[in-house]
Amino acid sequence: MERFMLKIAVLVSGGGTNLQAIIDKIEDGTIENAKIEVVISNKKDAYALERAKNHNIAGVCISPKEFQTREEFNVALLEALEEYQVDLVVLAGYLVIVPENVIERFRNRIINIHPSLIPSFCGDGFYGLHVHEAVLARGNKVTGATVHFVDEGTDTGPIILQKAVNVEEGDTPEVLQRRVMEEAEWNILPEAIHLIANDKIQVVDNLVRRK
Ligand code: GRF
Repeated sequence: MERFMLKIAVLVSGGGTNLQAIIDKIEDGTIENAKIEVVISNKKDAYALERAKNHNIAGVCISPKEFQTREEFNVALLEALEEYQVDLVVLAGYLVIVPENVIERFRNRIINIHPSLIPSFCGDGFYGLHVHEAVLARGNKVTGATVHFVDEGTDTGPIILQKAVNVEEGDTPEVLQRRVMEEAEWNILPEAIHLIANDKIQVVDNLVRRK
């Protein structure tokens, strides 16, 4: 019998280290029953597209700048996701607002990795290094990362997994970002994909529960 394989689209904007972690863990068998069908970037020079190419994964650039209106971009993005017949959309360092039409079509089928312990240090303006700058400015002793389902808000969907990371004396935003990536992001994003691909979680009353 044909084994079910979760078809994934990974949406990226930058270096793609989270994408690389997913690629590596599919290849080493940590993530079972999942396949990356396409990597979609809004930046044509995103190194994440290079990573996809190195692993023979389809990579496309769909940028809002290429379209007359935002509406046309939104339609093009949804059409690409449907063309590749994906089951799950993974936002991995994707800095474009996910449009309503995509959220509607992929309700509780879009996940995002955020580099803090939501609901701290999230929402508008909290992305990339800005998150770690705010954590250091507040003097937090612990931070971390969160994987959550994406809904109409910013970083407001049901939380799937979180992992805490220590803040060390003398940390710079760059050093802290790297530790959060290595110790948290690159582990919990692949783990969340594995859970979904193997039907281990469900959303009940907007809360994620294990099956
Ligand atoms: C990083 O700030 C990471 O914390 C967040 O997205 C940014 C880029 O990550 N998830 P990547 O290297 O492109 O995966």
